[in-house]
Amino acid sequence: MLIGVAAWAGPKTAPTVTFHKDVLPILQKHCQGCHRPGEVTPMPLLTYGEVRPWAKAIRAAVLANKMPPWFADPAYGHFANDRRLSREEIGVLTGWASNGSPEGNRKDAPPALVFPSGWNIQPDVVVEMPKPVPLPASGATNYKFVLVKTNFPADMWVKAAEMRAGNTKVLHHGKVWVRPPGSRWMEKAAAGEAYEEERNREEMGRNQAGEGNEMLGKFNSGLGAQRFDIEGAAKFVPKGSDLVFELHYTPTGRPETDQTKLGLVLERDAPKARYYLSMGPANYDLSIPPNTANAEVVSEATIQADCKLAYVQPHMHLRGKDYELRVVFPSGESKTVFKGRFDFNWQLGYNFAEPIPLPKGTRVVGIAHFDNSRNNPFNPDPNKEVRWGAQNWDEMSNCFIGLIFDVKTPAETVLHLPGPGMFYRWNRFLESLTQASK
Ligand code: HEC
Repeated sequence: MLIGVAAWAGPKTAPTVTFHKDVLPILQKHCQGCHRPGEVTPMPLLTYGEVRPWAKAIRAAVLANKMPPWFADPAYGHFANDRRLSREEIGVLTGWASNGSPEGNRKDAPPALVFPSGWNIQPDVVVEMPKPVPLPASGATNYKFVLVKTNFPADMWVKAAEMRAGNTKVLHHGKVWVRPPGSRWMEKAAAGEAYEEERNREEMGRNQAGEGNEMLGKFNSGLGAQRFDIEGAAKFVPKGSDLVFELHYTPTGRPETDQTKLGLVLERDAPKARYYLSMGPANYDLSIPPNTANAEVVSEATIQADCKLAYVQPHMHLRGKDYELRVVFPSGESKTVFKGRFDFNWQLGYNFAEPIPLPKGTRVVGIAHFDNSRNNPFNPDPNKEVRWGAQNWDEMSNCFIGLIFDVKTPAETVLHLPGPGMFYRWNRFLESLTQASK
């Protein structure tokens, strides 16, 4: 029947590609998650009036694979949150921009997407920092840690989380940590105050954020909300826990404030599996020589209990270039599960379409490359030997990994970093904190 209609329709002229009929559905699917008011982007792409002036820029950005941001090499792994446009979709956007960007008929438009009150999830619980953090106009800022007293009255299982910047101009990235009852981390901290490890060790206490504490939510440009309800899993927050917001701000040239919040979607039924976000393999001992264009840093961790790998998010700073995550099974067989370019401005996370079973004894190996040469336009100083550190001009090399395992397995036992020999600098750092707080 369709063939008959097409034949009857007469001469074969390509139908005009219009905004409402062809372009808007693509923008809704691939772009509006970020390009809408209140999100990380400067310009919304919701209406014809908003999109029309950007037509040429859109053509250039999609042809260069700059938009939507996505760095996974398609040769490795399939991802549930794959943002890439298909060849046909790129054809529609570029064709439209090249042919005068016609509006077409409003009646052809799909219904506008509805974004519930600015969130990308529908939160059951919202926890906001109790007061705004004042930020100076300029200068280097250390990471800030803000304790938020929640005292959750019962054990909670969390299906999804979204950390939303109070002020997207200043919050570069952030994390929200669970602080279980009795933790010594932030033990003397007053709720709502911003503390820095460099200045407030006394109040921040003897433990570290990463020591077995669960990370509930993360924020950085392009990351969006995070889902944990994969294969029936959820994140565990023990009764009586408080939250700690970890915040890295970049000054804007004028005094600012920020009051960031976290939304949580709860799982009411007892989940089958636990989802746990780990720092993953990390090389705290890294040393990148000056004036090198492709310095390699390898880090490794061993899986101690059967689990599945659901998520990867490589983390480096301004010299980060590319990252590969390889798993080496107990049989000796090895497999690259992720490989991709790295761009400091986009700390993207990748959800596997099918979580990868990692039996006990599997080694998880991260292979990172850094460009510490003059040709890296982001390089703050090519003449410096670079070590692990929190600031952007230092480096990091780790890969956050989302693991799913039996609810009865204690989370802190699942991943084992190599022995202290490789981590003498990190151990010294921990010792210095212990000394300082005695
Ligand atoms: C993950 C969030 C995100 C998604 C998804 C996204 N963008 Fe963007 N886009 C940004 C941000 C942030 C900027 C501004 C910063 C920059 O230029 O890197 C931007 C900038 C742009 C620009 C300006 C580029 C330039 O060279 O100045 C264009 C055009 C654009 N986006 C088009 C699109 C289109 C079309 C899509 C969908 C096909 C899309 N974006 C999807 C976040 C996103």
